[in-house]
Amino acid sequence: MSHERVSYRLFRPVYPSPASLVTSADADGKPNIITLGETFNLSVHEPVIVGIAIAPQRYSHKLISEQGEFVVNLPPADLLPKVLQVGAMSGRDHDKFAEIGLTPIPATHVKPPLIAECPVNLECRLLNVQTIGDHDLFQGEVLEHHVSPDLLNEEGKFDHAKLSTIVMAGGHFFDLGEHLRHWK
Ligand SMILES: Cc1cc2nc3c(=O)[nH]c(=O)nc-3n(C[C@H](O)[C@H](O)[C@H](O)COP(=O)(O)O)c2cc1C
Repeated sequence: MSHERVSYRLFRPVYPSPASLVTSADADGKPNIITLGETFNLSVHEPVIVGIAIAPQRYSHKLISEQGEFVVNLPPADLLPKVLQVGAMSGRDHDKFAEIGLTPIPATHVKPPLIAECPVNLECRLLNVQTIGDHDLFQGEVLEHHVSPDLLNEEGKFDHAKLSTIVMAGGHFFDLGEHLRHWK
């Protein structure tokens, strides 16, 4: 690679990031879904805290701020058409579960449901909302991790090699790609 550099403003300059489907619910328990390209690990071991960045104009911003709960659902690659549909309409005037054809599963600790089509689901309690810039940072403590048993190996360990996911870089989508090695 050349050691020369040119100035170039990248869209979403830190890459890649997972596409996630985050569920929320209103005071009556009616669920909504938002597609996010900004979902991060903030505290890794104890407690486990994740961050999501949501623009103030989203309906999900209001629901999660008011109700203090959300679920991060990680979609497999074949869900990409629905991931785009979720991100193209607002729960203010759409029932996205019914219209897009996704299946809610009741969560254990929170009102927003898990999405059955997503093999990993993290139930979160909102800890804090921080104004950052054009998006706000929602920090959520993970109260429960759910995974599909299809992703476990014979010893009951999570097998990342079985994982199908959607990775974003700029406006492009990729699958997870080739396994390089474990870190140890
Ligand atoms: C691939 C993709 C990534 C997105 N990432 C974000 C994001 O990180 N933060 C955000 O606020 N909106 C993001 N959006 C936009 C919201 O998903 C979209 O505005 C959605 O309709 C909001 O729904 P709601 O009004 O029901 O909350 C993204 C959309 C797509 C398609």
